[in-house]
Amino acid sequence: MKTLSSILLISASLITALPSFAADYTIKFSHVVAPNTPKGRAADLFARLVDERTQGRVKVEVFPNSQLYNDNKVLEAMRLSSSRTTGIIAAPSLSKFVKFSKKLQAFDLPYLFNDLDDVHTLIDSPLMASMTQGLDKKGLQALTVWDNGMKVFSVKGDKALKNAPADFKGKKFRIQSSNIAASMIEHLGGTPQKLPFKEVYTALGQGIVDGQENTWSNIHSKKFHEVQDFISVSNHSYLGYLLVVSNEFWSNLPEDIRHTMTVALQDATLANREYAAEADTSDRKKVEAAGFAKVVDMSKAERNSWRQVTSPVWAQFRDEIGGELIDGIKQLLGHK
Ligand code: LMR
Repeated sequence: MKTLSSILLISASLITALPSFAADYTIKFSHVVAPNTPKGRAADLFARLVDERTQGRVKVEVFPNSQLYNDNKVLEAMRLSSSRTTGIIAAPSLSKFVKFSKKLQAFDLPYLFNDLDDVHTLIDSPLMASMTQGLDKKGLQALTVWDNGMKVFSVKGDKALKNAPADFKGKKFRIQSSNIAASMIEHLGGTPQKLPFKEVYTALGQGIVDGQENTWSNIHSKKFHEVQDFISVSNHSYLGYLLVVSNEFWSNLPEDIRHTMTVALQDATLANREYAAEADTSDRKKVEAAGFAKVVDMSKAERNSWRQVTSPVWAQFRDEIGGELIDGIKQLLGHK
């Protein structure tokens, strides 16, 4: 089995051997987070592997930090593009595909996953293919899923979020464009507000919203903890990404190039899982050491009470997502 260190070793030894000539294909990889996050690092690795393994025939240019597009715009740009030599790859969070797939919303169900092992059980199962089915009819080719991590809640105020709904009452929380996240916040007692990622720091700093839910690497790299007072380690849902490309661009690539890119994606996915596991621990430590927001763990009883108050969200979205799919996932993950 390939390991991350063997991928990096081969990659380093190829660097000196690269001939330099103009690329036949250019791919713009657009994402919204910082380069030093699990997605940012995996995107950079993927770009390097593709450059090396196609000997410069394919150039992947990575645009982090919403430099090129935000997550809604990038999917539109991808679908509208008709170039056969310049493509776009994007990796919006699974929560941002609601316009394209009702089934993928299952990933947002509160307390579906206990940890990333549960997430991988689902992603690596045959159910995953059934969840991305139909994206091709909307012009998108699903490539792979990358992790960020489990989300925690941050808030500005005089105490950490522990009791729901009491501690959420009267507070606004920034969410991604997910209807399930909106309903979850309402059940927890707060008011949801959908905002693009690049507006979150300012919205928190100016008090447009009081809190937000995100992973340690996003909180740390975007300094959310500097404008928040408390972080509750709720691990209530997953943040991960679906990598997509226009299926017209993808299917018109020469077979050998598509194969090389597919293998590079598999290697970058393996690396991404390691980056995410690393960030989960190290970025939490950095946030704690920075001394701005106080980090508060949650007891089993507190976790169970949040699970209880948010459980109606499952029934509310059951028909939209598909009852059979939800039952299949529950069985796969050993839910009662
Ligand atoms: C968010 O909007 O909070 C995330 O989807 C950003 C990201 O890409 O991790």
